[in-house]
Parts: sequence; C-alpha cells; structure tokens
Amino acid sequence: MPNAKSIPQAKADFLIGNLRPLAADPFLTLSAWWRDYGDAVGFRVLTRQFYMFSHPQMAEQALVRQAGKFVKMYDPQKPKGLELVLGQGLVTSRGELWRNQRRLMQPVFQRGNLSALQSQIVAAGREMLLRWQGLGDGVQVNLCDEMMRLTLEVITQTMFGTSVLDRIEAIAPALDTALRHAAASLLNPLSLPPSVPTPRNRAFNRAMATLDGVVYGIIEQRRTHPAPAGQDLLGMLLQARDEDSGAGMSDRQLRDEVLTIFSAGHETTSNLLSWTLYLLARHPEALGRLRRELQALPAEEDWQFADLQNLEYCKAVLHESLRLRPPVGIIMRKVAQDVEFEGYRLAAGSLALFNIFNLHHHPQFWDDPERFEPERFLGNRSHRFAFMPFGAGERICIGNHFALLESQLLLSLIVRHYDIELLDPGEAEIELMVSLRPKGGLPASLHRLA
Ligand code: HEM
Repeated sequence: MPNAKSIPQAKADFLIGNLRPLAADPFLTLSAWWRDYGDAVGFRVLTRQFYMFSHPQMAEQALVRQAGKFVKMYDPQKPKGLELVLGQGLVTSRGELWRNQRRLMQPVFQRGNLSALQSQIVAAGREMLLRWQGLGDGVQVNLCDEMMRLTLEVITQTMFGTSVLDRIEAIAPALDTALRHAAASLLNPLSLPPSVPTPRNRAFNRAMATLDGVVYGIIEQRRTHPAPAGQDLLGMLLQARDEDSGAGMSDRQLRDEVLTIFSAGHETTSNLLSWTLYLLARHPEALGRLRRELQALPAEEDWQFADLQNLEYCKAVLHESLRLRPPVGIIMRKVAQDVEFEGYRLAAGSLALFNIFNLHHHPQFWDDPERFEPERFLGNRSHRFAFMPFGAGERICIGNHFALLESQLLLSLIVRHYDIELLDPGEAEIELMVSLRPKGGLPASLHRLA
C-alpha cells in the first residue's frame, strides 16, 4: 500500500488512550471528533485501535463492496459487547452459521407474511390505549417505558405467541443492565470475563439469569403446549432440522436466537416510537398534518394492510425520525486483514465504527440537517447510503419491514387518540449505549382526544 495515508488520530492520553472521554459520554465525544477531525478518525482505548467513519461512501465500501474484509467481531473464546448477551444469535454470528440461520428465519419477515401480523400489533396497541384511559386524563408517565412495554408485547406476541408483560418489572432493568455491561466491555479490552465475581460481573450475571429464565421459559412453554395453528418464528426455529444430520437446533442456539429477536426486535422500535412522539410533540404543524392524513382511515378494527401503504406522510414522519435519531447509531465491524480503504491504511484486528447518526446529519447530503422536516422523504428521492437506519449489505436488518409496519400502526393509533405533552420543555439529551435513546427517558402527560 505505497500511497495509502494514515487516518488522523484523536489526541489521546499516552497510557489509556481515549478511554476517559468515551466512557464519560460516548455520544458527545464521537460527535466532537467528527467536528474536529472529519469523516475518518482513529482513536485508541488502552491497546485497541478503533476507526470511526462518517461518510456514506465509506459505509457503502465497507458494508457492501468490501464486506468480506469488515466482519462481525464474534470470538466464542472471548465474547465482547453484544455477544456477551446474545451469544451467537443472528445479530452477532457470522460465516456458515449466520447464513443458514438467516435463510431459515427470512420467510417470517417477508412482506407477504407481515399482513398476517397486523391484527396482533393493533391489538397490543389498543390494549395500551385502554390501560392509558384507565389511568385517567393528564396522567404522567415516562414515554420511553410505555413504548418499551408496548413493543415488548408486540414482539413476544407476534414472534413467540406469548406475553411476558407480567414480568416487565424484572425484564426491563435486566435488559438495561445487560446492554450497559455489553457496551462498557467494548470500551475496555482488559475487562474481566463474567466468571470473575467483581460487583459489575455479579450484577451482569444476575441480569442474564433473569433474561435466560424468561427466554428458556418461552421455549419450554411452546414445547409443552405446541401452537394449535399457524407458524410463528418460534415454531419455525423449533421445527428446523439440519439438512445433513437431521438434528434440531441445540437449546443454546435456540436461546441465542430467541433472545436476539426478543431484544433487537423491541428496544429499537421502542426508541423509534419514543423519538417520533417526542419530535411530533415539538412540531405541532407536522402533528396536525399527520392527523389530517389519518382522518382518511377507517375505524381501527377495519384497517387493511393496503390502507397503510397510502399513508405517505406517516411514513415520511417515521423516516425523518429515523434520520434525526437513528435507534441504532453505530454499526461496528472488525477489520479482518490489513486493507487499503478509501485511500487509508487500516490494520487487521482494529475495529471500525460506521456512524449512522453522522451519515444522517452530514451537511454535504442534507440541507439544514438538524431541522425536523418529514417533507424531505415525500416523493421518490433516493438518499442511498446517507440514510441507512437499518444498516446495509447482507447484514441489513432482517426486521426492517416489520419495524416500519409496526411503527406505522402504533404511531397512527396513538396520535389518533392522544395528545402527548412533554413535561421537560428542553431538548432531550441523547444517550448512546448500544442504541440511541433519550437520556433519562421522556416524562410526559397523556391527554385523551375527544
Ligand atoms: C426501528 C427499528 C429497528 C432498527 C433501527 C434496526 C436497526 C438495525 C441495524 C442498523 C442492523 C444492522 C446491524 C449491523 O450491520 O451490524 C440490524 C440488524 C438486525 N436487526 Fe434490526 N432494527 C430494527 C428493528 C428490528 C426488529 C423489529 C427486529 C426483529 C423482529 C430486528 C432484528 C434484527 C436482526 C436479527 C439483525 C441482524 C441481521 C443479520 O445480521 O443478519 N430489528 N437492525
């Protein structure tokens, strides 16, 4: 690579590198580096080298054109980050295992199958609205908790034919602890494995025991009470047989896949709904336009799949929300071999971050990027890799159509029946953990519309 340049490196402490600012506030730190160093910047955490890329062309190169050189970082001997929680589920696995599992699960998420799930999604939404009604007008809630509950109910009902809401008080904090631990382990290459009983590891292990209890419970329940009709994701996983050996999936693999869909399938959509309701509450003109569009819909019990396809403004609102506050703010890959990339030299073994948030705010690709303007997404303008909330290439989100259908249905239900008043008039701070969420939640009061 004779002409390749080195990437500018963020100023760092000699020993620990850039650990301190990153641990204090990863979102603000990464934003500051983008401002100070541009679309390609390197940084170091103790001994580990990272790169951050914020240009659409770089994302396209790595995730699509040179995807073989930018791989998921799963190492079964020393799991880090999300693998600590999800094991070898579809988000984290790679190679043959990933390819076979993706092929197996894909049919559940195809558009043709989604219309059958619509009534379950609407039912979960209406259940929540009934509960809100029971709480009384003007009741104060944390909108993020409400959306988390709702999307958890949707994912377990649609994918596993069950509900775990009776255990939400244990599940929500366990998931939070597990994801925080996963994010922290990425920043610390020297972190001790979960078997070493430090206070943090003990809390993590307790959280994992709760989540495993829920997931193995879901699997066991289905084994003892097979679903009478229809085929959901869980049924499909349980019936899958290896083409050569005829063996079913191991319990551990089942657990990894179920926990993966359980987590990836509700955390993200919950953040999308929370951010969208937040943005609409701050932009009454957009909310008004959305409500006018929704007036054309029949009563909820008569909604057809086709009705939703015509909700152009509703889709534009969701897209603009995904642009401004992408629930997955960063995609990470390991550099598999020394590579020349966009004129830069990258070393094998280093970690590359593709900053979706920055792509979505890139001034070369977006006019007035901070402005909330759903109209950008009306018509057929292509934004290619400057807009990729669901990732790109072969690892693109398997649940993207499901998530959009679900969000359209639930958002329509909520804004048709409720006005949401944010209790904090300031701009919500962003917290980047694994997902991008409003720091501390969104206190709000709920007002039922006449
Ligand atoms: C607004 C909601 C969602 C957003 C923004 C989102 C975003 C993403 C992104 C960016 C990726 C790519 C990660 C990477 O390349 O490393 C991804 C992968 C994935 N997502 Fe989603 N997701 C959402 C909803 C869902 C839902 C509802 C499900 C399941 C029902 C789901 C399941 C998955 C899975 C299994 C993968 C891994 C796919 C693979 O590697 O083959 N996601 N998601």
